[in-house]
Amino acid sequence: MKTRKVLLGIAAAGLALSLAACSGGRGGTGSDDNKQGDNKGALVGVAMPTKTSERWIKDGDAVKADLEKLGYKVDLEYGDDKIPQQVQQISNMITKGAKVLIIASIDGTALTDQLEDAAKAGIKVIAYDRLINGTKNVDYYTTFDNYQVGVDQATSLLTGLGVVDADGKKTGEKGPFNVELFAGSPDDNNATFFYNGAMDTLKPYFDDGTLVVKSGQTGFTQIATLRWDPATAKKRMENLIASTYSDGTTKVQGILSPYDGLSIGIISALTAAGYPTDALPVITGQDAEAASVKSIIAGQQYSTIYKDTRLLGKEAVKMADDLLNGKKPEVNDTKSYDNKVKVVPTYLFQPTVVTKDNYKEVLIDSGYYTEADLK
Ligand code: BGC
Repeated sequence: MKTRKVLLGIAAAGLALSLAACSGGRGGTGSDDNKQGDNKGALVGVAMPTKTSERWIKDGDAVKADLEKLGYKVDLEYGDDKIPQQVQQISNMITKGAKVLIIASIDGTALTDQLEDAAKAGIKVIAYDRLINGTKNVDYYTTFDNYQVGVDQATSLLTGLGVVDADGKKTGEKGPFNVELFAGSPDDNNATFFYNGAMDTLKPYFDDGTLVVKSGQTGFTQIATLRWDPATAKKRMENLIASTYSDGTTKVQGILSPYDGLSIGIISALTAAGYPTDALPVITGQDAEAASVKSIIAGQQYSTIYKDTRLLGKEAVKMADDLLNGKKPEVNDTKSYDNKVKVVPTYLFQPTVVTKDNYKEVLIDSGYYTEADLK
């Protein structure tokens, strides 16, 4: 009798433990589907910001496919760059019983209420590429080294202008060169990291007069581009040309652009204003989107930053799988990403600069693109 009681006690404790494990140990919903104590086939919600940029389509597809390979069910949603739409999608994922949420936010501060609900339901949250700010309810983060992206963008602007060489050493070229600066969306935490990395790199060259921003627009809010919208960047470039480069002789020679989509808008404003396509300013970018790599091959855009979304997707899936199996995900950065409430443990990848010189080995040899994709 006594033995039976003890055994029953152990079994009950075991069940309680396994329920705690599957609900992330934060109380849980107590739903029936996890009585096995494992999360086999669990639902994972994947929220992506927009389909207007190729990269997010690749990210979403890769994350979904890798989760499905591990037997999970996936609810993949795109927010069309509309905050209320993404908020609603995340609420729906919680209602549908997702056990983990992988979120690339539109506005990194707009999800606090939903993530509070998620935490109450024991759902773990992984911030994908963009940090989620102002909440304790974000468990892990995976991204590329966003400060380094900015450093790389600025360095390639300098290389393109001939101010530094391929090894990053000063060539002695003093310009002065007219440059204009663009930044990303102010509600995307990454945008300030890109900006800070770039500005820290360019500052000595502004200070010694090698680079000149003729418009005088250098502050983040002055040069930011809400929602990373190419049309907004195009309009701003048109305005800059009209206000600062319309005397018939003054030309802009370099443009810091933080994203390929913006670079396309900027190039179209420049060509419409009479800049010949074979004598455009040195223009940077990010994401190695096919259209921009083609533009690099054609000698129009100068550089982009390649971030292998396959690696990022795999990492997010690994984190989710670890969490669903009661394991602690591996991280390699525990200090850079403070979301104002906590420092979010992060797995960081390193970006790669791509120009006409190395696109073949970086993008084609790695299988990211085929030659045909870039024709
Ligand atoms: C991403 C970039 C991307 C930008 C616009 C950022 O959060 O890190 O890779 O270019 O959003 O989509």
